[in-house]
Amino acid sequence: MASDDHTSATNGGSNHHKKPKLNPPEPEQPETLTLISPSEIESEFSHHDPSVARINNGSFGCCPATVLAAQRRWQLLFLRQPDYFYFSLLRPAIDASRRLLLPIINASRLEEISLVDNATTATAVVLQYVARAFSDGRFNKGDAAVMLHYAYGSVKKSVHAYVSRAGGYVIEVPLPFPVYDRNDVIDEFRKVLNKAKLENRRVRLAVIDHITSMPCVVLPVKELVQICREEGVDQVFVDGAHAIGCTRVDMQEIGADFYTSNLHKWLFCPPSVAFLYCRKTDELNDVHHPVVSHEYGNGLPVESAWIGTRDYSSQLVVPEVLEFVNRFGGGLDGIMKRNHEKVIEMGEMLVKVWGTHLGCSPDMCASMVMVGLPACLGIQSEGDAMKFRTHLREKFAVEVPMYYRPPKNGEVDCITGYARISHQVYNTVDEYYRFRDAINQLVQDGFTCDGNE
Ligand SMILES: Cc1ncc(COP(=O)(O)O)c(C=O)c1O
Repeated sequence: MASDDHTSATNGGSNHHKKPKLNPPEPEQPETLTLISPSEIESEFSHHDPSVARINNGSFGCCPATVLAAQRRWQLLFLRQPDYFYFSLLRPAIDASRRLLLPIINASRLEEISLVDNATTATAVVLQYVARAFSDGRFNKGDAAVMLHYAYGSVKKSVHAYVSRAGGYVIEVPLPFPVYDRNDVIDEFRKVLNKAKLENRRVRLAVIDHITSMPCVVLPVKELVQICREEGVDQVFVDGAHAIGCTRVDMQEIGADFYTSNLHKWLFCPPSVAFLYCRKTDELNDVHHPVVSHEYGNGLPVESAWIGTRDYSSQLVVPEVLEFVNRFGGGLDGIMKRNHEKVIEMGEMLVKVWGTHLGCSPDMCASMVMVGLPACLGIQSEGDAMKFRTHLREKFAVEVPMYYRPPKNGEVDCITGYARISHQVYNTVDEYYRFRDAINQLVQDGFTCDGNE
């Protein structure tokens, strides 16, 4: 089914032997293009529940109506003539999406980019590769994998499931939070690698988040990868699940062996699609998709492009996503800049009213920031944080994730609850005011998480 012809569902599909052309993306925003208006933005996201203040883009992202319509066209094209879709359209369309991503992530070659379902699947690709190195005897029992204490839960479980099971030793890097200096992160990371060296432990894999999920902090990933290189870590996998569309993502600058980012979080793709970058090396041929199908052995991008009969449409709409982002001033860079400025403005507004603080300095956040909650709310456990989130959803229609930070030794009256607020193009100031007012009311009413009101 390989074909170099680029096709798109967006130009219709009524005549299947007339292959619609996929127009190459405009390199720059044309002068004449009128920018998207606030009412057009509202209509692009009119499928969102209007009753909810959704200040949590980070968890599940969002997808505008024009992109959903393009997805629907691909789905119908498949249902209309599945064999033609499979043999003539699918692979070229996946390749078109990969090609469009290449300059955005500054990879050096197309073959380094694969499209997979999500960051969880990308993690399985990398960790199965590492597990094979243990079972083939290239890595030895007791060799280490390093990951951050704040690594995403499912990623941590994957590291344990694959590395520990294969006889590897897992080391967690403790990270400071709140954190206002990127050097504090770098120092902790360096300390752990030095300790491993002193213990004569060979570090085979480092898993580094670009933007940690909870608490969210943008990490100095380029410097951390550099330290791994200096210390002889074999493989570096960057989990950038939140990164593309949220912060700058540059494969050549970051220099990791593997890097993944979801396109459905901050790049407006429908769920679910992520890219997995694998730096071109001779060993790349031993990297495989966890779901083995007909294309096994033909390289990860090709393997991933057919993992059995399923809906591939979310992978095919990158052209329409870029059309959408180019309706905004400055395109994707403009969106990221404004989201960052706005989320900081909203975060600062909230902490000023509540007399708390942000969880990191503005240069360590992108389109999400941690906001300290009044200590009197009494968030004393992860369970409390989850219950409090549900309470805000059910009683105030505010959707925002909560984080419990246990007090450190000797700390009293410290802030133990933080909210992670996001800003995406559809958000309005009123949503943050609703959150502010909900917290103010709870404080005024004497609400505490242990149930006293
Ligand atoms: C840092 C991080 N890694 C991995 C994931 C997993 O992403 P997905 O559920 O799309 O696979 C997430 C999801 O929020 C995340 O925040």
